[in-house]
Amino acid sequence: MTIQLKTPEEIAAMRVAGRLASEVLDFIAPHVRPGITTGELDRLCHDYMVDVQRTIPAPLNYAPPGYTPFPKSICTSVNHQVCHGIPGNRVLKSGDIVNLDITVIKDGFHGDTSRMFCVGDPSIAARRLCEVTFRAMWLGIEQVRPGATLGDIGHAIQRFAEGSGFSIVREFCGHGIGRRFHEEPQILHYGRPGTGERLEPGMIFTIEPMVNAGKRDIRELGDGWTIVTRDHSLSAQWEHTVLVTESGFDVLTVSEGCPARPSLASAA
Ligand code: MF3
Ligand code: CO
Ligand code: CO
Repeated sequence: MTIQLKTPEEIAAMRVAGRLASEVLDFIAPHVRPGITTGELDRLCHDYMVDVQRTIPAPLNYAPPGYTPFPKSICTSVNHQVCHGIPGNRVLKSGDIVNLDITVIKDGFHGDTSRMFCVGDPSIAARRLCEVTFRAMWLGIEQVRPGATLGDIGHAIQRFAEGSGFSIVREFCGHGIGRRFHEEPQILHYGRPGTGERLEPGMIFTIEPMVNAGKRDIRELGDGWTIVTRDHSLSAQWEHTVLVTESGFDVLTVSEGCPARPSLASAA
């Protein structure tokens, strides 16, 4: 396996793309309210990316081998939808939880990040799923340093999510990212400490755990993209793009409005 190490120039460009992706989420956050459709959220984000940022929405017409082109500019995954939800005429209602996944291309480089949003007033169980998933992502990020392994990242995420009574989706994973949307390596969100590839400074990849309230099994809808939980339990996901530095990690998908790293004091 050849994991490409980014040059200082490439890292600088990835920082810009990462910040821009996060700023799309800052922009859309106040719009995520009962009554709006996922299609309207897509349109607002699309116009912001294209007209304000001058970025390219990477999902639009993205077609990996075996897939039909993705028809929209962002992914909107509501409640039991795990990932890759296609925006459309679904109206968000109070109590929904929704993941908005943004990938922009700026000057040829990708930034990829997603957050969970509470619509109106979700149940305590739904909120807890979102919070545990956020913390699981961060526990994975905090493993990142030269010499750590991919298994260390996966294990930290799996241990916390399963220890909280939830399950980890196995079929989708984080990924290297750069000039291409999905590069090597694959970042599994489960695993054993000390196993797998060793991290080196200059690697850039995403960490994006999908956590189900019920069983880990998933199913793809007839649209060829949307992934849902088989048991219809709620699912949550958070995503950051992360750089391996000489001393640890640097999160590239940061902006004014991005939720802060959880403090140790708030550990559940
Ligand atoms: N943004 C997703 C990821 O984190 C990929 C979405 S592919 C799309 O890897 F085509 F559905 F947009
Ligand atoms: Co990603
Ligand atoms: Co993404």
